[in-house]
Amino acid sequence: MIKILMVCLGNICRSPLAEGILKSKLKDKKFIVESAGTSGFHSGSSPDPRSIAIAKKNNIDITKQKSRAFISNDFDIFDHIFVMDYSNYKDVIRLARNQKEKEKVKLILDYPYSTLNEVPDPYYGGDDGFSKIFAIIEKACYYHSKQLQISS
Ligand code: 4NP
Repeated sequence: MIKILMVCLGNICRSPLAEGILKSKLKDKKFIVESAGTSGFHSGSSPDPRSIAIAKKNNIDITKQKSRAFISNDFDIFDHIFVMDYSNYKDVIRLARNQKEKEKVKLILDYPYSTLNEVPDPYYGGDDGFSKIFAIIEKACYYHSKQLQISS
């Protein structure tokens, strides 16, 4: 089993999309993809309606996801932890207990031909922010899905 965790701040906008998109590219049962938020602000909530809508437009159903907080125990469970921005990176790294755990954490946009470092937080913007982040996350997930398939 290869377990991948997508992490953002609220776990209602970006990481639910990242979970849904990566899952759609890694259909093999050996891959488990989940998501979490560095804050517990929205624990138990469904994804933001704007994330649900852009996912649906792209034939991905994220309606069953529920927000939860990232906890240090996640380092015991997951092999790869992809964060959306530097702030998420700092918050997740702070919970790591050793170097091996720190090495599991990567910015999702840290891949060779990426033109951005962070997935912008779309929460306070308009709907067009969600189509933009969908495209950004989609490209990154395409790259990471290939890498995960090669290395598994
Ligand atoms: P996310 O977006 O981290 O992509 O889920 C946010 C959702 C909620 C808040 C901030 C960002 N908030 O401040 O409540």
